[in-house]
Amino acid sequence: MRQTLAPALLLLLSACGGGSDKAEAPAEPATQADATAPSPEGPSLASAPAEFSQCATCHAIKPGVNAVGPSLFGVVGRKAGTSAYAYSEAMKNSGLTWDEATLDSYLTAPMKHVPGTKMTYAGMPDAAKRKAVIDFLKTLK
Ligand code: HEC
Repeated sequence: MRQTLAPALLLLLSACGGGSDKAEAPAEPATQADATAPSPEGPSLASAPAEFSQCATCHAIKPGVNAVGPSLFGVVGRKAGTSAYAYSEAMKNSGLTWDEATLDSYLTAPMKHVPGTKMTYAGMPDAAKRKAVIDFLKTLK
């Protein structure tokens, strides 16, 4: 059983990687962040834990890209409701700062932790999953 095809494939693949054309303008509307392609403009969902797919239905992770919710880029350490996004009054007035402990209790039950938030997400009851998500959020900088 010889894999005679493999070297040829490798050659083909590397031939595609050589272009230094930066023709891709970041002009796409703020929908989903690209799930596969690593981007020079920000982090990629490729390194996100499985649990984060719940968040990714509403949040992009690239800087300045809002979707249903605000971009989560740089959120760890940020004051709540201070990114360029149309927050609810509840979030703007929450007085929270997104350190790990605050994120942990917020993500357990967002609508209980910040009553009136427009993040209509029931929460992530599993502590290990929350930790995986928060550890990923910490990389978004
Ligand atoms: C149904 C859509 C939805 C889902 C799912 C969702 N969010 Fe949100 N999120 C929002 C919206 C909308 C806001 C803005 C809340 C407000 O202004 O009251 C928000 C706000 C936030 C904030 C505050 C950001 C800031 O700049 O202050 C954090 C942190 C956050 N979400 C994290 C998460 C994480 C982590 C998950 C996954 C576990 C998640 N969200 C799932 C919609 C969602």
